[in-house]
Amino acid sequence: MAKNPIFKPAGFPTSRFIGTFAYMMKNRILIKNIKQLVNVRDEGILKVAGKEMAGLPSIQNAYLVVEGEKIATFGKMEEAGYNENEFDRVIDAGGKMVFPAWCDSHTHLVFPKTREIEYIDKIKGLSYEEIAKRGGGILNSARMMREASEEQLYEDAMQRIDEIVTYGTGAVEIKSGYGLETEAEMKMLRVIRKLKENSDVEIKATFLGAHSIPPEYKSDPDEYVDIVINEMIPRVAGEDLADYIDVFCDRGFFSVEQTDRILMAGLKHGLIPKIHANELDYSGGIQVGVKYDALSVDHLEYTGDEEIESLLNSETMPTVLPGAAFFLGMIYAPVRKMIDAGLPLCLASDFNPGSSPSGNMQLILSMGSILYRLLPEEGINACTLNGAYAMGLAEEMGSITKGKTASLFITKEIPTYEFMPYYYGSNKVDSVILKGKIIKQNINR
Ligand code: NIG
Ligand code: FE
Repeated sequence: MAKNPIFKPAGFPTSRFIGTFAYMMKNRILIKNIKQLVNVRDEGILKVAGKEMAGLPSIQNAYLVVEGEKIATFGKMEEAGYNENEFDRVIDAGGKMVFPAWCDSHTHLVFPKTREIEYIDKIKGLSYEEIAKRGGGILNSARMMREASEEQLYEDAMQRIDEIVTYGTGAVEIKSGYGLETEAEMKMLRVIRKLKENSDVEIKATFLGAHSIPPEYKSDPDEYVDIVINEMIPRVAGEDLADYIDVFCDRGFFSVEQTDRILMAGLKHGLIPKIHANELDYSGGIQVGVKYDALSVDHLEYTGDEEIESLLNSETMPTVLPGAAFFLGMIYAPVRKMIDAGLPLCLASDFNPGSSPSGNMQLILSMGSILYRLLPEEGINACTLNGAYAMGLAEEMGSITKGKTASLFITKEIPTYEFMPYYYGSNKVDSVILKGKIIKQNINR
């Protein structure tokens, strides 16, 4: 690694000193001898759809320069014109690849406790809906949430974030929705705000007051919907605690009419929708999401021709959560059909204690190709650029593009990028840089 001349004690010309100091202030990192720089995109490409998803523009034998928090430039090694002394850090990536960090656009990673007891119930044959009806599932987390302290929630969630960073995640969306009453929802959102303030991971917050109907409103769910609309949304928006609004629009949870009312109220307060839809049935969730110009509609196990048609006439990102479908033994969304029809596709982890207790995006990528027959290129686009789009970050993240945030990872020595989904179960990430800061380097060696 090049030592910065600023630390050389004597005899250093002042102008050079000042120049170097300016570079240092900017934090200049050079990554050289990159075997392959993956998902290199021109500015302005904010998502990929249909056949384009099978393209993954990459540069062999490349270098990349980070300046401050941004990607300053990159190119082929043989065309590089830099002077190594101008950098604070020089990383020799010989044999390793550089990817844009994963953008995980759907998680519930602020939660009070894990729910492995329900996992046993599931193994014994109970369905997700049966567990929910018995007061398990989301309601179980909601009971624990009311007791949980903000400090503990924050500590536990930060630990989960630190873990997903080691797998290469650089941006994550986190939902509330285990509060199900105003104060507890506000508590969750304050925890997410504190995570935003203290993490180098880019975080987006989603208000999900309409995650489940609390038992006390079972006989009159509309009364709970009124509370979401009249009490929760104004407070959440008033304290600027959420970027997006979500509703679990599905059989046994919230109806299309209720979703419609909630999204309308959210929109009046500037909250763009990102909703849970069509996980349990052809619920109409996709269409109501499209109607409100949702940034994404997520889950999508029950997606037929009508739903595909509706999505094709929209800017909404269809998002599939392989971890939840796998863990719950659901049918799999017809992803091949959706991409072949020309749709874009995003994959996210759905990291939560009930239906997807993992935020490992490398595993999600592998599930994408093994369970949904996504090509490696399609899967990588789904976990990077389209993930960034699904969380409103495509201008800043999701690809190797000049001017985008320098949040990326360096792999271990891997033969090809196809190896990333193929060699599932082991961590292929060696080093992680978030917003220009080296977060993890060679810790698995
Ligand atoms: O995305 N589908 C609804 N909500 C979550 C599950 C949350 C839970 O069970 O705790 C999901 O899978
Ligand atoms: Fe979810």
